[in-house]
Amino acid sequence: MLSISEPLQADLALEETLDALDPLRHLRDDSERDVVPVQPPSVHNQTLELTFPPPSSLNADNVDKVLIRLLVDASPGCGGIAWPAGEVLSSFITRQPSLKAKNVLELGSGTGLVGLVAAKLGADVWITDQQPLLEIMSRNVAMNDLGDRVKVLELNWGGPLPEDLPRFDLILAADCVYFEPAFPLLVQTLDDLSRRDDSEILFCYKKRRKADKRFFTMLKKRFSWEEVNDDPDKPNYSRDAISLLRLFHK
Ligand SMILES: C[S@@+](CC[C@H](N)C(=O)[O-])C[C@H]1O[C@@H](n2cnc3c(N)ncnc32)[C@H](O)[C@@H]1O
Repeated sequence: MLSISEPLQADLALEETLDALDPLRHLRDDSERDVVPVQPPSVHNQTLELTFPPPSSLNADNVDKVLIRLLVDASPGCGGIAWPAGEVLSSFITRQPSLKAKNVLELGSGTGLVGLVAAKLGADVWITDQQPLLEIMSRNVAMNDLGDRVKVLELNWGGPLPEDLPRFDLILAADCVYFEPAFPLLVQTLDDLSRRDDSEILFCYKKRRKADKRFFTMLKKRFSWEEVNDDPDKPNYSRDAISLLRLFHK
């Protein structure tokens, strides 16, 4: 298993050594002041139509295309718009073996895009986020007539898991590495979920800042990972610094 690329491993080792010598060095680093990426222009109550056409050779259920109508609105928070890693992960799952009757949990769903695509592919899906995003997620579930397959739940990373969750076959997370104070919380939740279920975890992220490496330093204490290399879209999204990883609990 390829757990981490060599240059990244060397970078992480260097970061760890420097952190050990001077734990407060990041607080003095001016280039690290922005904790969130630059946001796109404000978007209010717009509806997008996104299609994800799976190649029929890989599509066990012969779904010819997945069409999602997505309400986007930045007012409840940055998750209210469509983020690039979410679109990459949505495309990827349309090309995977059938999700029919699988239980899927999405973390940091924002608009709910990735989870809605999973539901269109036949999965029973729990889309989750913080309280301010729940309304837009619910509206997107209704707009796509997926109320019978998708549940909307508050799940705050690092907090207790909601009660009565089923066993999950697959956990999805897209564009959840962007806010440094949340890094340990997200690792904690991934760890909590992996301790209860032996779920597959697909984790898609866009590298934006040097500080993102610190997420992976934390993650590697509890998980190893491999890059998904058999995605035909990989050359396109790699150019935009997006990676799709499969995580494995240690
Ligand atoms: C950059 S957005 C990505 C949204 C969506 N996954 C996508 O790809 O379009 C990150 C999401 O993580 C959620 N999030 C951030 N911190 C969180 C926390 N502590 N607990 C739960 N969700 C959190 C945000 O509310 C937001 O919806």
